[in-house]
Amino acid sequence: MIRVGIVGLGFMGKMHFRCYKALEDVQVVAICDTDKAKFSDAAGTAGNIAGAEAPLDLTGIGLYDDFDRMLAEARLDALSVTLPTYMHTDFTVKALDAGVNVLCEKPMALSVEDGQPMIAAAKRNGKLLQIGHCIRFWPEYAAVKQIIASGEYGKLLAATFQRLSATPTWSWQGWLMDPGKSGAAALDLHIHDSDFVHYAFGMPKAVFSRAASGPSGDDDHIVTQYLYDDRCAVTAEGGWTMTPGFGFEMSFNIVLEKATIVFDCNRSPALKVCPAEGDAITPAVAPGDGYSNEIAHFAKAVSGQSVPEIITPEQSLESVRLVMAEKQSARSGEKVAL
Ligand SMILES: NC(=O)c1ccc[n+]([C@@H]2O[C@H](COP(=O)([O-])OP(=O)(O)OC[C@H]3O[C@@H](n4cnc5c(N)ncnc54)[C@H](O)[C@@H]3O)[C@@H](O)[C@H]2O)c1
Repeated sequence: MIRVGIVGLGFMGKMHFRCYKALEDVQVVAICDTDKAKFSDAAGTAGNIAGAEAPLDLTGIGLYDDFDRMLAEARLDALSVTLPTYMHTDFTVKALDAGVNVLCEKPMALSVEDGQPMIAAAKRNGKLLQIGHCIRFWPEYAAVKQIIASGEYGKLLAATFQRLSATPTWSWQGWLMDPGKSGAAALDLHIHDSDFVHYAFGMPKAVFSRAASGPSGDDDHIVTQYLYDDRCAVTAEGGWTMTPGFGFEMSFNIVLEKATIVFDCNRSPALKVCPAEGDAITPAVAPGDGYSNEIAHFAKAVSGQSVPEIITPEQSLESVRLVMAEKQSARSGEKVAL
């Protein structure tokens, strides 16, 4: 039985809790949040609005408002760091130094410099560090990564990714709308696609970006061209400047020599492979979603089972570097080499 803790019981902390609860041989034994109201909100005794998600059953779980005390008392094997991004480095390093394996939410950190101590701490303690790049585990994205890598449909000609959202309003003390704490939509939201471009096609040679300022006063709607040696055209657009009625959309179109692959989370079927000849195919994809799959992967790795290499801390740091280059390009109006 793996003993798991969660620090930060906000939007993602609750998601991690639900995903761990669905696993056998994993027990959430402790949760820490400095805002104690989060425990009663999550358990449904307060703030449980009709139609909201089912309350969490926190019975028997150690509830803490002091992270050091949780680390000292809870005998954790693993910890989810689901805190605001600007806290990722300190909490992750502390947990790793206490001998606890860490699954830290994306983005890894606010800068490459802030991510480096996290990797060093995992190495010096011989512990696992996984960053929550759930899109690598999202069934349709994972299937497409395999289709591209198989070479079945030839080389990449073009790809475009979109991730668009109404402005998020839920964050604790409004930290998401403070670019010094979240990195704005470019680092918080669009990094999902920057990381997938990196995963599927490798690091580009350079980026060229334009970004509009939005509700955070920083890069809240960004469009990037990822420049590779060959003549493929790869772009991604991400932002949280959409109006409330828009909701959320993630989608992509990938043009290979012998097939076009399209995905839209709001369409059914969401994923279609349209080969050069014959009808469109709806490929079978793994069950679950990116969150449950990444958490199952982490739990397996913590328990010592062998898992495929899907995400490393070094790759996660490279994705932060990629977004930083995009932000720099948007600011300078110039292409930025990587
Ligand atoms: N993978 C995804 O798709 C995805 C989606 C949303 C958010 N995220 C990431 O998850 C992380 C958390 O985001 P969120 O939306 O859940 O934020 P949130 O604002 O909903 O939750 C943050 C929680 O941390 C708690 N907290 C603050 N300071 C604390 C401290 N010192 N000790 C303990 N608890 C403390 C707050 O009370 C709050 O409950 C961010 O890095 C964000 O980028 C990832």
